[in-house]
Amino acid sequence: MEKFQQKWDRTGTRSVKWDLSETIFKNKDVLPMWVADMDFPSADAVQDAIIERAKHNIYGYNVMDQPLKKAIHSWLNKRHNWEINTNWLLFSPGVVTSLHMVVQALTNEKDHILIQTPVYPPFYDAIKKHGRNLVKNSLQLKDGKYEIDFDDFEQKIKDHQVSLFILCSPHNPLGRVWTKQELSKMGEICLKHNVTIVSDEIHGDLTYHEYTHIPLGSLSEELSQNVVTCMAPSKTFNLAGLQGSYLVVPNKDNRDKIEQQFKSQGLGMLNTFAIVAMEAAYLHGEEWLDQLLKVLQENKQYVQKTFHENTNLIKVLDAEGTYLLWLDCRNMGLSSSELKQFFQSKAKVGLNDGISFGHEGDGFMRMNIACPKEIVIEGVQRILTALDER
Ligand SMILES: Cc1ncc(COP(=O)(O)O)c(C=O)c1O
Repeated sequence: MEKFQQKWDRTGTRSVKWDLSETIFKNKDVLPMWVADMDFPSADAVQDAIIERAKHNIYGYNVMDQPLKKAIHSWLNKRHNWEINTNWLLFSPGVVTSLHMVVQALTNEKDHILIQTPVYPPFYDAIKKHGRNLVKNSLQLKDGKYEIDFDDFEQKIKDHQVSLFILCSPHNPLGRVWTKQELSKMGEICLKHNVTIVSDEIHGDLTYHEYTHIPLGSLSEELSQNVVTCMAPSKTFNLAGLQGSYLVVPNKDNRDKIEQQFKSQGLGMLNTFAIVAMEAAYLHGEEWLDQLLKVLQENKQYVQKTFHENTNLIKVLDAEGTYLLWLDCRNMGLSSSELKQFFQSKAKVGLNDGISFGHEGDGFMRMNIACPKEIVIEGVQRILTALDER
């Protein structure tokens, strides 16, 4: 547990979160609690595997071999009760890359693609940058929890003849872990209207104890043929800089098209350290992950409780998964630019603006709590002090 409590200095490590904060927030004293990586060292087994491989000192081309695929297979089996066939796997430097590739492989220009907003900003780019049309199913905040408006979901699909739906599961930034009922209903509607689903499950390993992530593709054989699942150990084990992820694509036709798309862009091989890190994390990282989840649970409870007891200006939505908290700041009565100014200049805490996830995020901010408790406390106290001084 000690490694999760110690403050590690990340400055000067080319960290986006720490080394770009001053530029992004125009304030050198900002405490960075924004971009989605963690201020924790990865599992020892990951570091050991990287060092061992680095010692070899020959870094030629790599094969994503059967031991790597078996490590993924066993991880999905033990953590998510999903029995995959290793032939279904494709590899990609990152999930965002995969989204761009899948959009190009499975849709045509001017096709309509559905997303549920507010959502992780690269979802918008993966659609718009390739001349596809964006269709939005806004998630509805009811009694402190976001829900899907299924009537709107189906109507939008019909009205726009949607061909692809990009699901965020668990959802960033809202922290929802979709239930079996919700997933089944989305899946059924998509099957009924011939809509292929890309399920971004990068946060799937990060759920709080009363919630379970269910891979959409694991729900039924019929659905698995209609779902492209994007996964990675990068959020789970803090490996984003190593750039290693994979896709699970049971449908052979889709898999061939996606593989061709990767090849057409000269992509397809993972780097040396991504491979060994992924394998080590999945084979030996379970205990580390269970400790991490406890730390995140504690951090989440602290933030929720402290805001709840001290202010009614900021309400913290209950995240069911992810280490990202969605703060409802609408009671502060500020415009989006005033809200941004308040956090970066007055509170000196670097958060993501809610509006960057879509207009529905106006009045909200996203806080990353994957850091030692001391940093979480400091961030929350800075915000409460700035609220007092308003
Ligand atoms: C939903 C979601 N997808 C993808 C990513 C990024 O994935 P990658 O770094 O593998 O491109 C993130 C990072 O925050 C994310 O939240």
